[in-house]
Amino acid sequence: MKKSMSLILAVVCAFGLLVAGCGGEKKATEQPVLRVGMEPTFAPFEFQKEGSKEYDGFDMDLARAIGKQLNMKVEIVSMGFDGLIPALNAGSIDAIASGMTITPERSENVTFSEPYYKSGLTVMVREDEKEIQGIEDLKGKKIAVQIGTTGAMEAHKIEGATVVEFNANTEAALELKNGGVSAVVNDLPVVAYFLEQGGGKEYAKMVGHVVTSEEYGIAVKKGNDKLVGELNKALAELKKNGEYDKIYKTWFGEQVK
Ligand code: ARG
Repeated sequence: MKKSMSLILAVVCAFGLLVAGCGGEKKATEQPVLRVGMEPTFAPFEFQKEGSKEYDGFDMDLARAIGKQLNMKVEIVSMGFDGLIPALNAGSIDAIASGMTITPERSENVTFSEPYYKSGLTVMVREDEKEIQGIEDLKGKKIAVQIGTTGAMEAHKIEGATVVEFNANTEAALELKNGGVSAVVNDLPVVAYFLEQGGGKEYAKMVGHVVTSEEYGIAVKKGNDKLVGELNKALAELKKNGEYDKIYKTWFGEQVK
């Protein structure tokens, strides 16, 4: 009798293991989660297609490809750009993939992966603008930027300029459209995409040269060498196996420069 009882128990437990895990232990097959933070008004790097809940873009494809490489489940967490580094430090996300430029200031607070994209800032003005031909003409002007970005940092250096900071890039562009500011300072690939595919060419244009030379990196918590090592390894592998090129072509339609 005793014997059959323990047999039943063993069977029940084995069944339980199959269903939910006995004793609440993690199943061996369960994938670890990588929580990736980003701010989604930065097409074509991270954005939401109209009417869609899914996050799309170059960074999102890259993050998911890295997740696959590392056998991790990527969970995208959306927030304001200026909230990303605080969230990383608070431990509510594991990494930032948000077109984030590697800067000396940020590198004091976070650890960056190897660069994964070359970028730079540019100036966007209204279509009918004649006076402003580039960043040198922005002295004393009203400029819209996204809060916490390198665009904001650069705009603040301009003599006599009034810098209006917005949470979303879409709001900065709208302010330009409505005549509230004379220019927007933002990353060139984002301005170019907006003018080509985001409806921007109806009222805006790009002027001048590339203002800065920047590189994007994936940020992890300062000193998380294990994770950044894994990310770098995955990035290198994706570059080697052609996956990076494939993602690049999807969003920029050309060979990696
Ligand atoms: N590259 C710029 C920076 O690092 C802008 C990034 C903005 N990214 C975004 N997802 N809104 O400051």
